[in-house]
Amino acid sequence: MGHIIQFTGLSGAGKTTLSNALLEWGNQHQVKIKLIDGDVYRQTLCKDLGFSKADRLENIARLGAYSASIAADYDYIFIAAINPYEEARHALKAKYGAVLIWLKCDIQALIARDPKGLYRKALLPDTHPDKIHNLTGLNDTFEEPQHADLILDTGSLNVEKALTTTVNFLRQLSPAGRSVTHHDHQQK
Ligand code: ADX
Repeated sequence: MGHIIQFTGLSGAGKTTLSNALLEWGNQHQVKIKLIDGDVYRQTLCKDLGFSKADRLENIARLGAYSASIAADYDYIFIAAINPYEEARHALKAKYGAVLIWLKCDIQALIARDPKGLYRKALLPDTHPDKIHNLTGLNDTFEEPQHADLILDTGSLNVEKALTTTVNFLRQLSPAGRSVTHHDHQQK
């Protein structure tokens, strides 16, 4: 069985970027990785869900259950979603042994970057028709993880450093999953 790794972090903190770097690393090292990206699954498996607390909990629960159902086919499965509630994170850890990686980035940096324009919309006046009223980190809850297995400060780490740190972290995970050889010798 592969390890399930759940990310948590605000929109723009780098979950998708790091995930894509991990996919490429997996390809290069014959490590089978599946990426479950919240943005993607909200178009399919979780299409009916919005951004209320109940819906966000359900979103993560479904992504966790789906990950578990395919875990035998992979070395690592990454769930890349905002995942803002401790309850949801704890449930994935309890049910599937999912470890937790927090991509931490301060809100001012996220507002400055804002690649999707979401923070700009959340900061609009209340009466503006485009206003987002429940953006995580600005006007909706993000519970800071109290039990993260790894914290990456994506405000100060570049992608390469975040990738190296994550790979080192993966290497020392308990062999609860299938024992994985990263085939480094083939790269030398
Ligand atoms: S989660 O809270 O349920 O874990 P998830 O990661 O699946 O969220 O989806 C977040 C994505 O939905 C963001 O990357 C963003 O593009 C989009 N989104 C739209 N509205 C919101 C909102 N109010 N809060 C957070 N993300 C939003």
